[in-house]
Order: sequence, then structure tokens, then C-alpha cells
Amino acid sequence: MKLLVINGPNINMLGIREPGIYGSGTYRDLLDFIAKSAKELGVTAECFQSNSEGGIVTAIQKAMTEYDGIIINPAAYTHTSIAILDALKAVGLPAVEVHISDVSKREEFRQISYAGMACEKTYMGLGFEGYRQAMIWLSERLDGKKGNGKAGG
Ligand code: DQA
Repeated sequence: MKLLVINGPNINMLGIREPGIYGSGTYRDLLDFIAKSAKELGVTAECFQSNSEGGIVTAIQKAMTEYDGIIINPAAYTHTSIAILDALKAVGLPAVEVHISDVSKREEFRQISYAGMACEKTYMGLGFEGYRQAMIWLSERLDGKKGNGKAGG
């Protein structure tokens, strides 16, 4: 089972950016956490980070033939990008949305998630653990142990 973990703009600044919100762990720490969790769960997780919307759209398109599922933290593009929403819909891979912070308790402009409209599940406010939960959820989903998270699925 091969999963692509996509992180959007400024996630490479973890540890430096607003540690009160995102914690003190760096992006390198996140990559190590994902690699360790994937090993424990027996899945392959490859990580991609981009500060550009087009880079993320291209990564999603390429994933179609190479991966079984997508875990995505589109960061600020969550709240603005119809292009990322359309790319997720176009490839049709099972996708899970992750946010390190609990966006539901933050500013009004963070209350809309376009990417989330193409995701079967969302984890937020769990820090790095959200990525591990997303891997668990997707591996069970892809093993056929659960439906697609939607009514009738
Ligand atoms: C974020 C939340 C977004 O609102 C923000 O723009 C980010 C990170 C999170 O992981 O909590 O860059 O996606």
C-alpha cells in the first residue's frame, strides 16, 4: 500500500513558524515521524512539500498512477484553492485531509476547506499524530475494512 503525503506552503517552516500554534517540531521531525509511523503500520508513505499551488496540483495528478491514496495538508491553500479540490476530484484516489492545528477554532477565513470537499476524512488539531491517524484510516479503508466515509459508501 503506497500513500502520498502532501504538505503545502510554509509546512517546511515548522518549528520556526508560530510554535504556539504548530508546535516546536520541525518539518524534518515530521518526515521522521511519518516514516516511523508508516514502518510500524506496514505501509509505504512518500512525502512531498511545495509552497506553490501548481506544484501541489501536479503532484496530485502524478499520484493517480503511482499511489493508492493521498494524505494532504494543503496549508493556506486549504481555504482558497479550487484547483487543488479539482485535482483531487480528477484523480479520484481516496484522500484524507490533515491539519496540525484545530482550524475549526481559528479565524473565520479558515472555516472553509475546499480540498476537504474531496476528502473522505479530516483530522485536525492533533499535531503530527493527525498524519498517523490518516495513515491508519486509509490503510483500513484500502484494506476494505471500511467504506468511503460517505453514506452508502
Ligand atoms: C494548517 C492550517 C492552515 O489554516 C494554515 O494556513 C497552515 C497550516 C494546519 O496544519 O494547521 O499553513 O493547514
